[in-house]
Amino acid sequence: MAEYDLTPVAVPHVQTKFRTIRTAIPVPESLPLFESLRLSEPRSMAGQPPIVWDTAEGATVADRWGNRWIDWSSGVLIANAGHGHPAIRAAIREALERPLLSTYVFPHEGRATLTRMLSDLSPDPASYMAFLLSTGSEATENCIKLSKSYALEKYGPDKKIFVSFNNAFHGRTMGAQLAGGMPRLKTWMGACDPSFVQVPFPDGYKNEDVSFDLFLKTLKEKGVRPGEIAGVMTESYQGVGPDFLPVEYARKLEAFCHEHDIVLTLDEVQSGFGRTGKMFCYQQYGITPDLIACGKGISSSLALSAVIGRTDIMSLYPPGSMTSTHSASPLAVAASIANLKVLKEERLAERAERLGKWFVPELCRIQRLYPDVLGCCHGMGLVAGIQAVKAGTKTPDPALALKINLACLHRGLLMFAPVGIGGECVKVAPPLCIEEEALRESVSVFEEAVHSVLKKD
Ligand SMILES: Cc1ncc(COP(=O)(O)O)c(C=O)c1O
Repeated sequence: MAEYDLTPVAVPHVQTKFRTIRTAIPVPESLPLFESLRLSEPRSMAGQPPIVWDTAEGATVADRWGNRWIDWSSGVLIANAGHGHPAIRAAIREALERPLLSTYVFPHEGRATLTRMLSDLSPDPASYMAFLLSTGSEATENCIKLSKSYALEKYGPDKKIFVSFNNAFHGRTMGAQLAGGMPRLKTWMGACDPSFVQVPFPDGYKNEDVSFDLFLKTLKEKGVRPGEIAGVMTESYQGVGPDFLPVEYARKLEAFCHEHDIVLTLDEVQSGFGRTGKMFCYQQYGITPDLIACGKGISSSLALSAVIGRTDIMSLYPPGSMTSTHSASPLAVAASIANLKVLKEERLAERAERLGKWFVPELCRIQRLYPDVLGCCHGMGLVAGIQAVKAGTKTPDPALALKINLACLHRGLLMFAPVGIGGECVKVAPPLCIEEEALRESVSVFEEAVHSVLKKD
């Protein structure tokens, strides 16, 4: 994955309403901090652009040396409501001052409020419920556990296969990685549990066959009968792209799961809470998941995740046996309640939809200026990605993606490190509250950065 050089680069100064760049990048004075981290942490924690976050507000991030970036990362699709939203900070402060800092699974009012609010966001509030965890991986792990438990209880041990997709990412814990679809992340496991099976994802670029027949054909080739499948899980859009399911495929998948009583999980950890222009991305397909894994934008801030799901599936485990120490941690719960209110009151999903109608085509226009090396552009609402490839091929070019990412950083436009199967995807995800003026300015900066890397005159 991305390795950033820590040698300071002198870059032109920038001063606009939203961006300030007034030092070399990385800031020479910040280097001792990087050295300290290098000594105290595994290098796995490095790999993001070499700036030191000091404050983050709305759609900008600043260091303490006077530099300020327009943020196209939202952290990593966390800050949907914007960084440090005043209402979220006030809610956290209120919980802090009460004080109520930890509760384990002892009930508290915030927990009742938030689980109700999340159930109300489900496909059918009367027959769905929610429970709270801390990370997205915990949420997807629990979806796997619930799917397999449901099948075991209802049909016995033969219905145990868990189907997910090539190139999927569901987190870094063991079950989440078994369901993940990137082989390089699983080598440490040695032999994988054979009850986890992956099929091609119909992204339309890396895999051009977007028919549901390929799903059926692949299962057949792998010797899996529909009646043996306990669960199917997919990200509502795959993070590596972002890659979206064709609507027809999504509907056929739903019908297939329905026909064979297979628990269908939509992983909305990244795509939920307004990002694509609807509260959940699965709503773009008009389908109804049985379980929904949530995280990131659920609080726009503190660590919180949730599973929202069908009551009959969610009720399989007796009291005390499907919990986590920090389930419903009060500060995170307060932040999440405030966040959900902000998303609704500020109509941020609608805003993402509206801005996305201009933002995504603009990025695709820029991609089409260099179709040889910028292979494709996918996006919806306020998430998009451009794949950097070796000229005229679909072979990932992570070095090019990194150059674009750095050219943006140097101009005051912040993204997280390129993602994708081989680090080839320049992925962007501004907070949904981003001012239109800041979004327009940042698209111009992006275009200028792309030209600076690719234009040959
Ligand atoms: C789709 C998806 N699922 C699960 C996860 C894991 O979430 P966490 O890092 O909070 O464990 C992520 C994180 O990037 C994700 O994008």
